Amino acid sequence: MGGSHTFLAKFVHWFFVILYAYGIFKQLDDLEQLEDSGLLMFEVVFASVFLLIVLIRYFYMSRFETFLGANEPVPLIHKYLAKTVHRLMYFCLVLLPLTGLAIAALFRRGMVDGLLMDGAIGVHGFAADLSYLLIAVHVLAAVYSRLKNEGIWTSMVPLWKEDATKKSDLAEKITVFEGNVLQKVEALLPAKNNDGAQ
Ligand code: HEM
Ligand code: HEM
Repeated sequence: MGGSHTFLAKFVHWFFVILYAYGIFKQLDDLEQLEDSGLLMFEVVFASVFLLIVLIRYFYMSRFETFLGANEPVPLIHKYLAKTVHRLMYFCLVLLPLTGLAIAALFRRGMVDGLLMDGAIGVHGFAADLSYLLIAVHVLAAVYSRLKNEGIWTSMVPLWKEDATKKSDLAEKITVFEGNVLQKVEALLPAKNNDGAQ
């Protein structure tokens, strides 16, 4: 408890935020743009590098505990929710380049109309939209945790560092309120699930 993410974990996390923002920023408007063969090649290389980084990151990060920076026990339900959001983010981040590559492959075979292309573009857009939602939830949860002064924020974010030695009144109040609510929720969970989270 109370540790910090490794330098590599932090580097990959923040480098990836830039890569993701760039990928979203440079998004294509329509299929016709792929007639530019230079752009098509660039998209394919970008999507392949993006996918490789996501996979390497996933396997590297899977050895670490969720909330390893917490300086006090974190409610189990928070761990379940955070793990679910993290996994769903990875799911979207794999789906985006994979469907992008599928679009490229279909385009090169001249299959620009039809169910396959419509499906690939539909899933591509869905993965992008879901990733926006999940990232918004993730960032809000991180800010909430920062307000509670739990140590999780500081284990990953280099700014607005927490002071582990003292809790603000606000942090105390949120922690007490949340503790009361969560005690009731956790009492409803099946006992065997209570020791499943890392
Ligand atoms: C593209 C945007 C982002 C993505 C895709 C993302 C994804 C993730 C993922 C998957 C994790 C789990 C650890 C891992 O596997 O690396 C994580 C951890 C974390 N992220 Fe982000 N993140 C993003 C942006 C942010 C931002 C903007 C903040 C803060 C303002 C933030 C704060 C944190 C914190 C505090 C953790 C540590 C949680 C823990 O220790 O379990 N993230 N992020
Ligand atoms: C990691 C890589 C990629 C990211 C992050 C990404 C991101 C996006 C996003 C956010 C959109 C807008 C979706 C919407 O709002 O409906 C989009 C659209 C599109 N992307 Fe990608 N993309 C990637 C790779 C690719 C690749 C490799 C191709 C094909 C070579 C591609 C082809 C397209 C096309 C054709 C559209 C327009 C779809 C339409 O007609 O509505 N993308 N992309």
